Amino acid sequence: MYAIAAKNLTKYFFHQKGFFNRQKFFAVKKANLLVQEGEIFGLLGPNGAGKTTLIKMLTLLLSPSEGEAEINGFNLKAEGQIKRSIGLIYPGERSFYPRLTARQNLDFFAALHNISFKLARKKIDELLELVDLKNMGDIWFEEYSSGMKQRLAIARGLLNDPQIIFMDEPTKGLDPLEAHRFRKFIKDFLVKKQKKTVFIATHQLDEAQELCTSIAIMHLGEIKLRAKLEDLTGTNDNTLYDVFLEAIGEKNT
Ligand SMILES: Nc1ncnc2c1ncn2[C@@H]1O[C@H](COP(=O)(O)OP(=O)(O)OP(=O)(O)O)[C@@H](O)[C@H]1O
Ligand SMILES: [Mg+2]
Repeated sequence: MYAIAAKNLTKYFFHQKGFFNRQKFFAVKKANLLVQEGEIFGLLGPNGAGKTTLIKMLTLLLSPSEGEAEINGFNLKAEGQIKRSIGLIYPGERSFYPRLTARQNLDFFAALHNISFKLARKKIDELLELVDLKNMGDIWFEEYSSGMKQRLAIARGLLNDPQIIFMDEPTKGLDPLEAHRFRKFIKDFLVKKQKKTVFIATHQLDEAQELCTSIAIMHLGEIKLRAKLEDLTGTNDNTLYDVFLEAIGEKNT
């Protein structure tokens, strides 16, 4: 069984061009993907390529216009089962309540997952410890630094002990040391120790190179290339940047 299998997954929007003219616009067009369990799968592509839209469809935040997908063997329609088995780590100030403490924020999200009060207490303690915020759990979110906010987003993404963890540019805004720690956490803790599958969208090619077992490169809504990382750069002098440029048709500029 694949952790993620997407078949012709498509999302289009209508852009209004004048009063009568609505133009169909493909944010993601016929995306086909297979991600094996235990992989760290990297999704690369320029701004506007469709990465976030694809992640939103795979995490049930957005329903596909066409196509289908299975997450952990469940069809996208099996909402309850999928929600129990996935986590989403998306940093971003506005996704937490600024005037609640870190712990209160996690309480809130635990309730959304229907985690009982007692279990949530225990889980939140464990997670705050894991992301090194144990002594800062009772501070307002708005007083956190970017790195602390990011670590809290990780804790939130792991509340329901998900088997697959989706991440959308998780190291954006982190200093080099925090980013390094985070990558180590993904590799050593989430994947090696806990045997999770990680699906990560990133702009940082060195990050993809360091972490990923496989990658896909998207451009203008389409997946242009899918490959195992070891097959891409091992045999010749091509860097991942060369591969990236070629995939998006910018090789000769
Ligand atoms: N709700 C929406 N309505 C209309 N167009 C949308 C909507 N959401 C996304 N788009 C468009 O779909 C395209 C893909 O956007 P998306 O956010 O998925 O790209 P991305 O690869 O995540 O980009 P970035 O690297 O900048 O985060 C963009 O052109 C965007 O304007
Ligand atoms: Mg995005």
